[in-house]
Amino acid sequence: SAATGPYADRFGGQLVLVTGAGSGIGRATAFAFAEAGARVVAVDRDAESAARTAELSRLIGAPQAWAETVDVSDEQAMEKLAEKVAAEYGVVDVLVNNAGIGLSGSFLDTTAEDWRNVLDVNLWGVIHGCRLFGKQMAERGQGGHIVNTASAAAYLPSRTLPAYSTSKAAVLMLSECLRAELAGQGIGVSAICPGFINTNITSTARFTGVDADEEKRRQKKSARLYGLRNYPPEKVAEAVLRAVVRNQAVVPVTAEARGGRLMS
Ligand code: NAI
Repeated sequence: SAATGPYADRFGGQLVLVTGAGSGIGRATAFAFAEAGARVVAVDRDAESAARTAELSRLIGAPQAWAETVDVSDEQAMEKLAEKVAAEYGVVDVLVNNAGIGLSGSFLDTTAEDWRNVLDVNLWGVIHGCRLFGKQMAERGQGGHIVNTASAAAYLPSRTLPAYSTSKAAVLMLSECLRAELAGQGIGVSAICPGFINTNITSTARFTGVDADEEKRRQKKSARLYGLRNYPPEKVAEAVLRAVVRNQAVVPVTAEARGGRLMS
């Protein structure tokens, strides 16, 4: 079916790889690129949801879409993925490092293992993606774009998301460093910083040292304060495509991402 939507055919012929594509913002982003005519590689550690995203991407308008089951924190698995994608589908034109996990809890109640888990996925997953696919883009010499999903938590301090916020602050900085390094080669790098978005991440986030229900209520209340009920992942996906088209560096999405002072 023909590409539709605001960016119809804007990404025709391009290869777009999205991690964490099985759910939420990643799935919406895969769909938006599919609608814009891109060939899509949907990567998720959950095989079924990645397969579903690929299947739906084809229905929406992607000329081709594949699912790859990979844990982004697994260096060897990511190396294999990069080799396979280059060999079978081609060099990625747009990479969206979106896979991430949540963790709520006070700093002092967060165990070393919890810190490691969050940094492994949210930070190392992005590092692996940037290194491996960024290298392929640079070697090909035809430009490209990398979008990393950071968060408003990257620059808004929080009493209840210390590990998560720290991982996202690192993603924001690495994105800006890589952007500076690759600018001369026509490769753009963007960091997307959404505020509260309605996805599974809050329901699947682990809670440590805090009452989960109370924490969820608190986050909802904070979101309500900013008038953010029901901010859909599709709007974040739109911001991702816009960031690529306009080559934007840092993109706050939602009101508290633009104006807030405390995440939670
Ligand atoms: P989600 O939980 O709906 O989707 C995350 C997807 O990533 C899931 O399909 C999950 O299976 C996958 N995933 C998790 N760990 C993985 C791993 N190690 N390897 C491969 N896949 C993995 O969450 P959502 O909200 O769509 O999150 C996407 C990104 O957006 C995350 O990086 C998150 O931190 C970020 N974000 C989300 C916000 C929100 O309020 N929902 C706000 C700001 C940023």
